[in-house]
Amino acid sequence: MILYLLVIVAVLWTVLFKLRRRRMYKLAALIPGPEEELPVIGVAHSFLGDAEGIMSALQYYSYGSMQHGIFRGWLGHILYFLVVDPVDLEMVLKTCLEKDDLHRFIRKVIGFGGIFAPVSIWRRRRKILMPAFSPKIVEKFVEVFSEQSEKLSKRLADSASGEDFSIWPFLSSYTLDSVCETAMGVKMGAQENPNSPFLASMNALLNVVCERIFHLWLQPDWIFKLFPQYNIHQDCIGVLHGFTDEVIQKKREELKNEQRSQPEVDKQFDLQDYRTKSFLDMLISLSGGERGYNNEELREEVLTLTIAGTDTSAVAIGNTLKILGKYPKIQEKLYAELMEVFGETKRPLVKEDYTKLKYLDRVVKETLRLFPPVPFIIRKVLTDTKLPSGHVLPAGSGVVVSIWGAHRDPKYWGPDAENFDPDRFLPERFNLVNSCSFMPFSNGPRNCLGYQYALMSVKAAVSAIVKNYKVVGLEETSPAPKMRVKLEIMMKAVDGYQISLEKRTSL
Ligand code: HEM
Repeated sequence: MILYLLVIVAVLWTVLFKLRRRRMYKLAALIPGPEEELPVIGVAHSFLGDAEGIMSALQYYSYGSMQHGIFRGWLGHILYFLVVDPVDLEMVLKTCLEKDDLHRFIRKVIGFGGIFAPVSIWRRRRKILMPAFSPKIVEKFVEVFSEQSEKLSKRLADSASGEDFSIWPFLSSYTLDSVCETAMGVKMGAQENPNSPFLASMNALLNVVCERIFHLWLQPDWIFKLFPQYNIHQDCIGVLHGFTDEVIQKKREELKNEQRSQPEVDKQFDLQDYRTKSFLDMLISLSGGERGYNNEELREEVLTLTIAGTDTSAVAIGNTLKILGKYPKIQEKLYAELMEVFGETKRPLVKEDYTKLKYLDRVVKETLRLFPPVPFIIRKVLTDTKLPSGHVLPAGSGVVVSIWGAHRDPKYWGPDAENFDPDRFLPERFNLVNSCSFMPFSNGPRNCLGYQYALMSVKAAVSAIVKNYKVVGLEETSPAPKMRVKLEIMMKAVDGYQISLEKRTSL
């Protein structure tokens, strides 16, 4: 009897569920989807593989979207659209500001830190954070990038034997040190100590979060708690939160002491040594000082910046180096430019150098086009949204913004869209008809706040390395570079950024 009742309730629930969503089914049917879609699970089986398989599935759907103008796929009962058309993307990024629910797993780490916060919270946080990223403030960080990139270059000397090695740990400790110094005013010292618990915890945590996003069985909290990843997750959160809380506490004390005009320096974190105000200082004052952000909000914001700025920039540097290894002629042209600007001197990079390093700018941008570190962004569709192409995204669906696809669409980039050609960014050739055709840092009101910061940090590292070493890789015979990539929130090289370096000058 109870079983009967349960069956009847389940059937009624399903019928009601389907009735309520009939508009969604109707609109979805008007949009092309993949042939391999299965009943009930939709395209979920395409994402069962490893991170490389997931990336190739999304590349395949991006090509589908280029071909048909838009593409859709059911992930179980959730409907997603994948958009590559820049005109449609502009509208999506302006109107669909809410992040997809899949981001809830990272919220355990960064709470309501701006990047994945619900719109109601994000608006205020973005307003407070924005002035801290003004070009005048960001360019003050050049000294940090310059010093940290010189350190990076020196640390690579022992690995420059002509043998292949993974440059990833060097790059991620460079970006972590730069971000921690600018975000918290703390010298993390990850470059000197690659086993830094902060770095290890951040990496382990991001891996667990990624596993949860793509492995449906790890998603419900009560099941997740039964898996060993749960303990790793909790321990790592403890390390990240513990460290950040301590820094915030010290900063509060320091500010109090400063107010009494007797600054007290905390030697443990070398707080005195920051040359300019860190984001933490600015967040305290911009949010209203004592009456502004509480310690938890500060921790959320500072950790968000740390997580948003570390791997993204490291991936961009790694991709640029891999590309330079594939195309020695392009590398030599870049080296010639660096010699012209720096000569044989060992002087540090200064902000004026950035405007002179024009070829470096084009090489970095072309790498970000073909290998955007954040290849996809997922937003929620809260109300029916009619796109300029005429397609309607129904309320309740999700939309995958394919930055990767928009960057390779021959409609906007020409028949050689997949070729690596830095000179397409020459002012006389670069004609961006729509701003969303090139948007490694996204577009619209929720775009990346750190894009100028990131470009400076990436260029500082690439120039420090190329000045001192020749990057040697497997030379590419085709103008379209091939690199095996995987999706781990970011798009990373499968081989962990294996390259080999040969010293150019005595260090
Ligand atoms: C090459 C490096 C980087 C890339 C490719 C990148 C890319 C992105 C992308 C695609 C978004 C998502 C925007 C959206 O949902 O529309 C984003 C958001 C954000 N990024 Fe970056 N980013 C990089 C470096 C940085 C750095 C270094 C910082 C800070 C130090 C930073 C801070 C942020 C913040 C705060 C947001 C959230 C903006 C908001 O929701 O209001 N990013 N970034």
